[in-house]
Amino acid sequence: MDNKKINWQTQSAARQDGPRPESGRNQDLDPATFEKYRRLIYEKSGIALTPGKEALVAARVGKRMRELCLSDHDAYLRHLMEGAGDQEIIHLLDAIATNVTSFYREPEHFELLADILRQWRNAGQQRFRLWSAAAATGEEPYTIAITLLETFGPNTVDARLLATDISTKALTRSLQGAYSQERVAPIPRPLLARYFDRRGPRDAPEYAVKQTVKDLIVFRRLNLSTPPFPMHGPLDVVFCRNVMIYFDKWVRARLLEEIHRILRPGGYLFVGHAESLTGMMSPFKVVKPSVYRKI
Ligand SMILES: C[S@@+](CC[C@H](N)C(=O)[O-])C[C@H]1O[C@@H](n2cnc3c(N)ncnc32)[C@H](O)[C@@H]1O
Repeated sequence: MDNKKINWQTQSAARQDGPRPESGRNQDLDPATFEKYRRLIYEKSGIALTPGKEALVAARVGKRMRELCLSDHDAYLRHLMEGAGDQEIIHLLDAIATNVTSFYREPEHFELLADILRQWRNAGQQRFRLWSAAAATGEEPYTIAITLLETFGPNTVDARLLATDISTKALTRSLQGAYSQERVAPIPRPLLARYFDRRGPRDAPEYAVKQTVKDLIVFRRLNLSTPPFPMHGPLDVVFCRNVMIYFDKWVRARLLEEIHRILRPGGYLFVGHAESLTGMMSPFKVVKPSVYRKI
């Protein structure tokens, strides 16, 4: 479960896992069983499940238990803790993690990003390193990459984006980079035409991200709850959006310290709109709500 060394070489080979499983059977979870899941999930991911999430946990692990032909939670917990080890933990976290995301989510972040990149470029900067820290199924890093291409044009600067997530299933979807008509709806039409290939049947087309966009991004698995991370930095921009809400104050504080270490002075941190750092001992300067800067 340790974070592995990361380099900035792009990788196009996608693992051929299937799509994220649907929620499974909703068995009852007694308090002791829920507590065992809660502790394990917290230890392995920093995700802090609060009381009341029993039905959600039961539903999300149910499908996996059926795949393993295990009929009760005690047997599955034994499988997690004894036999299967880290490999099964990956399946558990795939099931538990909420991957909700969209292209151009919180769109003003991308307008501001474009302004910042333009200013840096006008000041002579040639090398840009960005990180999408909870990339989910890829919509966020692809939106950032399109913003880079729209701002700079292709091959004019040295720009790279690292996109990470704890969920291997989400990463597989990211690497595939193919989205339904509904998923691409927030993308302005000219950009959809420029950066995606339409394929498949007329009535149910799929939009595949073009290689020019993919080539800017390195996808890796990384657990945000176990700093230090293998990147040395310095990074110019970090998007860490809509993931800290799943962590407690302690995990959040360590994560912010680590992001602060990796960012260069003057670098920017974008968080989700619901994730203000107000009230936290944060080393960042507030630029505007949900946007911070390392001074
Ligand atoms: C709600 S999505 C947010 C996606 C995107 N950043 C956005 O704002 O649209 C949260 C993502 O955080 C990931 N996640 C949860 N715990 C994590 C951890 N400890 N390390 C890395 N990623 C984690 C989940 O797998 C999920 O893909």
